Amino acid sequence: MEKIKLKNDIVVSSVCLGAMNFGTSTDEKSSFAVLDAYVDAGGNFIDTSNNYAHWQGTGDESETLLGKWLKERKNRDKVVIATKVGFDRHGEGAGLKRGQIEFWIDESLRKLGTDYVDIYYAHSDDAQTPIEETVEAFDKLVKKGKVRMLGASNFDTWRFDRARAYAKTNGLAEYTIMQQRFSYLYEKSSCAPTYVFNEYVGRERLRYLKEENIPLVAYSCLCKGGYERPERLPQSCEKGERLEFLATLAAEKKMTKSALVISYLTNFHRTGETRVIPLFSSSTPEHFLETLSGADIKLTDEELLALKRA
Ligand SMILES: NC(=O)c1ccc[n+]([C@@H]2O[C@H](COP(=O)([O-])OP(=O)(O)OC[C@H]3O[C@@H](n4cnc5c(N)ncnc54)[C@H](OP(=O)(O)O)[C@@H]3O)[C@@H](O)[C@H]2O)c1
Repeated sequence: MEKIKLKNDIVVSSVCLGAMNFGTSTDEKSSFAVLDAYVDAGGNFIDTSNNYAHWQGTGDESETLLGKWLKERKNRDKVVIATKVGFDRHGEGAGLKRGQIEFWIDESLRKLGTDYVDIYYAHSDDAQTPIEETVEAFDKLVKKGKVRMLGASNFDTWRFDRARAYAKTNGLAEYTIMQQRFSYLYEKSSCAPTYVFNEYVGRERLRYLKEENIPLVAYSCLCKGGYERPERLPQSCEKGERLEFLATLAAEKKMTKSALVISYLTNFHRTGETRVIPLFSSSTPEHFLETLSGADIKLTDEELLALKRA
């Protein structure tokens, strides 16, 4: 798997593993098996949150499981851990006020059994809290060494940029990575934001990220398994010619559609666009590795352009 150098010299693999369901719907044995398979395949970039997966449990499960895995494998310094703050957990935790950020980072560090996280994301924007307060609180975490790098997820681009501008003007740490829902089918769909927060990635956002040299971590990029199980594809997804073209090329290349989507996303920047880092998950190492195989496939220019145009 290719490696990508992020700001602050953090080096990550070209694919990120999502740990959202680890410790809840994916039990410990299967979660450890997927984590081990990913690391054995050369992966080092793991995504979690302070609230995963609260809709199936308490919200502590994913970070706690990762903490146990890191301790057992003694590999904290070999992996890049990204976690998040700001989303709801059973009615608590939503927001990006100073006190919330200070409280939840310590909770995450405790559960993960580490004294720093590599990437700390604002999980969702908080319009009720002044941007200045949030940016200053995050900067303090960086200065204290609790966090190495900052990112944001589910933000409007203009709010993301406004926070960066305030940080820049005041010599504070800024968001240098963005995490949004993105996949092959979403690129041509009018995927309206499902929630109040903005998860949409359109051409304007892509242009902004390219201009600012900010990588896009593409979450749920397998459409929740929808490429292999079409009944899971969201209603708002473009399912016509684009999906047919993907299926035809995948069959020609003897790949699954999911694996081809991973190739597409890891090759995305080659047409002059921003770097996309696909973020996905599975409950089994077999599924995970089958899909991950796409990361090592370099598409020809013709294939890449044809996929883009479809
Ligand atoms: N920032 C945010 O707000 C946000 C929101 C959602 C998620 N995320 C992050 O993104 C990560 C991934 O998101 P996600 O789990 O929602 O979606 P996803 O990765 O797009 O899809 C996961 C689904 O794909 C299926 N799958 C994978 N490989 C397969 C294969 N070869 N054949 C058939 N099915 C396959 C899995 O089923 P099996 O288990 O059966 O393989 C699983 O149900 C999360 O873990 C989390 O870290 C972030």
